[in-house]
Amino acid sequence: MSAPGPPLALLAELTHRCPLGCPYCSNPLSLERVRDELDTTIWQRVIGEAAALGALQIHFSGGEPLVRADLAALVAHAHAAGLYTNLITSAVLFDHRRLAPLKHAGLDHVQISLQDTAPDNADRIAGYAGGHRKKLEAARLVRGAGLALTINAVMHRQNLARLPEMIDLALELGAGRLEVAQVQYYGWALRNRPSLIPTRAEVAAAVAIVAAARERLKGRLVIDHVVPDYYAKRPKACMGGWARQFINITPSGLVLPCHAAQGIPTLRFESVRERPLAEIWERSEAFERFRGTAWMAEPCRSCERREIDFGGCRCQAMAILGEAGETDPACALSPHHARLLALAEAESAAEPPSFTYRRYANAPSEPAPA
Ligand code: SF4
Ligand code: FES
Repeated sequence: MSAPGPPLALLAELTHRCPLGCPYCSNPLSLERVRDELDTTIWQRVIGEAAALGALQIHFSGGEPLVRADLAALVAHAHAAGLYTNLITSAVLFDHRRLAPLKHAGLDHVQISLQDTAPDNADRIAGYAGGHRKKLEAARLVRGAGLALTINAVMHRQNLARLPEMIDLALELGAGRLEVAQVQYYGWALRNRPSLIPTRAEVAAAVAIVAAARERLKGRLVIDHVVPDYYAKRPKACMGGWARQFINITPSGLVLPCHAAQGIPTLRFESVRERPLAEIWERSEAFERFRGTAWMAEPCRSCERREIDFGGCRCQAMAILGEAGETDPACALSPHHARLLALAEAESAAEPPSFTYRRYANAPSEPAPA
């Protein structure tokens, strides 16, 4: 196979530590521990390697990246390397003392997640009292400092009724972009799916609300909308195709093609501690396994959309069918599509069970962070 083009972006998961406990967190159930995290020097080396490889953006994520005391140093390093820098944060640890060094380091953009517009329900979903108020303060600080702001609104059956208020709130906070991110079912969200998945009618109503708001707010607020693909006819082009655009690095240094890839037990992921990033991107077995279209079986192999959606999501095929090389069951051409749909309909019609919060204590046989 010929060498791949450069990645667009590096998602740097600096830590899995986080004060919140969102039941839809995309981190794996087995959260990595603080003692295994990469140190500043290794992260700086890796950031330089990503820039040399041709990446244009870096997204500092987690867990909560603000728990890392070296965050500003890493942002400064990325900025000096010519990368566009984005901080993806819950923002509950954000204040003017954290903002000043980040701005000075060259931070370009901040993305703040909101759990709801109703403060009590937002705090209940996050498992963190007082968090919603802190997030709003942080968003105002970000805009006050002149940084670009995106609001990431994670929507599901327990807050979707307030989508219109969420759009108004993003506008009021001065965000340039709102991501209406309906939950995708990986990691903790997969475990909590019956508590989160909306009905088909609720999803259709949300689509109409977003379409009307886009029209009304043209030129003032860009709205992205990710819908739950269980009700779709065709799958999403997950990650823009496996190992085509994104590199995800876990806190301990494992290099993944997407945040959920560790759910595929047949793949072995390499570490930046042991191999240069460029070699992993270009030649590692896990990246090569589903790159391009040669790995596909029918119906994808002869489908005219195979270079549009790349067969959908490998992690979803693994989670639902137990086989990562199958067509994503979100595709109506998959022989397993009806099963996915039936699952969504049954779970969304039943009473939602209580959340399993994303915490070290709730991770399978996982001790408290060291
Ligand atoms: Fe995409 Fe495969 Fe479905 Fe075609 S058959 S639309 S390539 S997932
Ligand atoms: Fe891993 Fe879709 S989340 S390929």
